[in-house]
This record gives sequence, C-alpha cells and structure tokens, in this order.
Amino acid sequence: MDTQQFIPNSLQNKITKTSFTWKTPSNIALVKYWGKTEPQIPKNASISFTLSNSHTITTIDFTKKSNSEADNKINFELFFEGKKKEDFKPKIAKFFERILEYCPYLTTYTMVIHSENSFPHSSGIASSASGMSAIAMCLMSLEKSLSSIELTNEFINKKASFLARLGSGSASRSIEGPLVVWGNHPDIKGSSDVFGVPFPYEVHEVFKNYHDAILLVDKGEKQVSSSVGHDLMHNHPFASQRFDQANENLAKISKILQNGDINSFINLVESEALSLHAMMLTSNPYFILMKPNTLEIINAIWRYRSNTGSKVCFTLDAGANVHVLYPANESKSILQFIDNELSKFCQKNHYICDIVGLGAVKL
Ligand code: PMV
Repeated sequence: MDTQQFIPNSLQNKITKTSFTWKTPSNIALVKYWGKTEPQIPKNASISFTLSNSHTITTIDFTKKSNSEADNKINFELFFEGKKKEDFKPKIAKFFERILEYCPYLTTYTMVIHSENSFPHSSGIASSASGMSAIAMCLMSLEKSLSSIELTNEFINKKASFLARLGSGSASRSIEGPLVVWGNHPDIKGSSDVFGVPFPYEVHEVFKNYHDAILLVDKGEKQVSSSVGHDLMHNHPFASQRFDQANENLAKISKILQNGDINSFINLVESEALSLHAMMLTSNPYFILMKPNTLEIINAIWRYRSNTGSKVCFTLDAGANVHVLYPANESKSILQFIDNELSKFCQKNHYICDIVGLGAVKL
C-alpha cells in the first residue's frame, strides 16, 4: 500500500501562529468493521452513512516553538467543552505519535486543542470517529498552509481520512459523505485499507437524505471497549466466516444502493447489526452490549413494520443504543412511532434525530 504519498516533502516553516476550526460528523456503519491487524488495517471492508447533527467541533491553535523551545516532542493542551481534560490526553498523545511520520510539523508547534460534541457526553454515541476526524482536518489545514506545492482537496480528504484512521478505524469514514467505504474491496473502485473513499456510484433516490434517529438506551460507559472487541476477533471461532460475510454484504449493498431495493437493504442492514453482536456473544471472553430495552425496541420495530408496511429498520454499533433508519418520506410517521412506542425504552425518553450528511466543514 502506497503510504509514502502521505509523507510531506515540500513543507516550509513559514507560519508562526495560526488556528483552524473544523466540524466533522459521526457516522453509522451499514456493513460493520469488527476485527483488524496492525497498523489499523481492517479485516473486511465496511460502509457507513455519514451523519450530520451528531458532530464534533474542534479548534487547534498552533504556535511555533522558538529556537530555545525547539525539541522533538509533541506538546499540546486539551480542553473538552471548555474544561482541561487530562484523562483524554493519553489517547490523543498516542494518536499524534502514530501519525508523526506523516505530520512532522507536530513537533514544530505547540498546540492548544478545544473540542466539543453536539451530542451529550457519555450518551453512548462514540465520539472517536468525529473527534479524530476533526483533529485530522485541522492538521491538514496546517499542512496546506505550510506546503509549497498546492494540495488538492482530493488529497487533503484522502490524507485526513488516512490520519483519522490511525486514531480510530471508523474515523476514516467521517471526512466525506453521504456514504463512505473503508477497506479494499474488488467491487468498489478506488477503495483502500488505509483510507475511506466516498461510495463511487450513483445512489438511488430512496437512499438520499436517509434519516437516523439514535435512541439512547444506555448512556453509561461501555463495559467492553471497541479496541478490546476488535482484539477478540483474533482466534475467534467464526472470524473468517464473519469477514467473508461482511465482504459479500458489501458487494450486495453496493448493488442495493444503486438499484433502490429497500427490502433487501433492510434485511442486510439488520443482519449486519445482529452479526456484529453475535461476534461479541461468541468471543472468549464473551460479552453482551445490548440491554433489555435494545431488544424491546428491535421487536417493536419488527411489529410496526409488519403491521404498517413501513420501510423502517434498525442498526446497532458497539453499544446498547439503537439507530432507527428510515427513508425521508416516512419521517413524520416514524417520529410519531418513536414518540408513542419507542422513546419509553430510552433513558429519560432521550433520542437524537439525525440525517445523512456530506462530511467535514471548515468553520
Ligand atoms: O472505530 P472503532 O475502533 O471504534 O470501531 C468501530 C466499530 C463499529 O462501530 C462497531 C463498527 C463500525 O464499522 O463503525
């Protein structure tokens, strides 16, 4: 894999002080990534809808170190929602070390990072995808200003996705939209294990402006982190079948997204969600991230669909929350359904209405 292209060789140290702010979204996978090898190479290809309302806004202030301050260290301060956050620092420090080879300017500047999420902290919505992609976009803005050659937007997005992936795999899918594929797959032109690419084919009308209501079943800290979950796919009895299944599902969903076969979409997306959780149930040590209310919601969705002919369906990420996916033309009726029958299964009746979006925005 050609990662050399991401090592900059035309940088000038021409800027002493600058600042960039980016807003980047979360995403929800339709075909799931679960299992990887070093350095953050996925065992199968995945595809996600980019969201819009669930996002992170990050500002990085860069100040060039003076000659006396110059060292080879990465120096930064981190503020989350206005408060200094020492406990988030190790994860970001590790991320910066991982990408230093590709971002040598990280040691030239001291950085002050201010970050905030649109969704409540510990809502169970993973903030790593939006958080890491926002940092990656700020770094690419700096790199663009330092570069003596013109960097195209295509390259900036590609490298930002490449960098974000090294922070959190799914973050590679949070730079662009509305659908992003990450992982090399024969049916997806331009796809790669080291960065995400926008789904390269024309998408059927029915899948445009898709809605995602995120039902907050459990806002607590997960008992098992996704990095532990990924690791448990090594020596997992069903690992190779799972990776084959995901790659086959990616081939199928590529056709479905183009031909608009929404019944096949529902079947595939729900099967993917349950297959992901089946991997958790059959890991050793085994674990369960779904809660009783996760199952109540799934059953209510199935009942509603069979009673009304609705095209609503669900997916899950690595947690108890349920993502309720539905086409734009059902938005009114599904919101009523959620208010009447599903919100009672959420903590404090809380859910977030989201819609598919186009990716990172510079502020
Ligand atoms: O990016 P990570 O390491 O947090 O893993 C994300 C895994 C899932 O959310 C469960 C699936 C996916 O493809 O986003």
